Amino acid sequence: MNNLLKGKRGIIFGALDERSIAWKVAEQCCEQGATIILSNAPIALRMGEINKLAEKCNTVVIGADATSVEDLTKLFTEAQEKLGGKIDFVLHSIGMSPNIRKSKPYTDLSYDFMNKTLDVSAISLHKMLQVAYNMDALAEGASVVALSYIAAQRAYSFYSDMADAKALLESIVRSFGYHYGVKNKVRVNSVSQSPTVTTAGSGITGFDKFFDFADKMSPLGNASAEDCARFCVALFSDLTKSVTMQNLFHDGGYSMTGISDKLMTE
Ligand SMILES: NC(=O)c1ccc[n+]([C@@H]2O[C@H](COP(=O)([O-])OP(=O)(O)OC[C@H]3O[C@@H](n4cnc5c(N)ncnc54)[C@H](O)[C@@H]3O)[C@@H](O)[C@H]2O)c1
Repeated sequence: MNNLLKGKRGIIFGALDERSIAWKVAEQCCEQGATIILSNAPIALRMGEINKLAEKCNTVVIGADATSVEDLTKLFTEAQEKLGGKIDFVLHSIGMSPNIRKSKPYTDLSYDFMNKTLDVSAISLHKMLQVAYNMDALAEGASVVALSYIAAQRAYSFYSDMADAKALLESIVRSFGYHYGVKNKVRVNSVSQSPTVTTAGSGITGFDKFFDFADKMSPLGNASAEDCARFCVALFSDLTKSVTMQNLFHDGGYSMTGISDKLMTE
């Protein structure tokens, strides 16, 4: 521990269970001296797992459906009260596609489901930022990180409408990053993470095979959730004050590799 986040106040969205990327980020933020509030959708809170994390981080959980402006307004109000000031960092670690859940092929999507995918997985970031912007809830130089995936740039046959959601998410990162940077030097970035074994990740058919493929393709191997958390800590810290509006690949080199020896010699 080197107290990279000492004195900083954060909100972490999306810790469902201990495999969640947000769970690892929360643990490491606390180890680095931050005080945090945890949040997740009311339905996820019923599982109860997140309370263990709250205990470990000596904090509370405030439920919020990330698609509800009302819930987000209440959350940002209460978080500032509980933490005793403006918020220095926010993690958006939220994704869900009803089309994937119901195994709808990309060529036969339900548009009601697709609207839900986009709202939960991408527009929720805009809602968070707009609520915070209008309430002036983020401290000067605060850092917001959203998790993304390379299917925003390339076709991944299994990723369905989540690919469209990630492309929108990364666009919101750029567009809101501009406006919030001008207003208050707030940084907004996305981290494009390797496939990771979590509830959201392993909900995808054939995930195991793909996980293995990506691992062999990447010169450093797939990036772990723990490494992703360390990268998020760096982005929340004062060491990255001029990094904004970026989509940053955290993938062991996967995105820059055409073919690898490991795959050639199989
Ligand atoms: N696992 C992977 O392979 C992988 C790779 C790259 C990026 N990501 C991204 O990382 C992020 C976190 O996913 P994860 O893999 O840790 O899985 P996860 O299932 O642990 O986390 C997803 C979270 O989204 C929350 N959520 C869903 N609907 C919500 C709503 N309406 N309001 C608030 N929260 C809601 C869930 O409760 C859950 O906590 C997602 O954006 C995902 O797309 C995951």
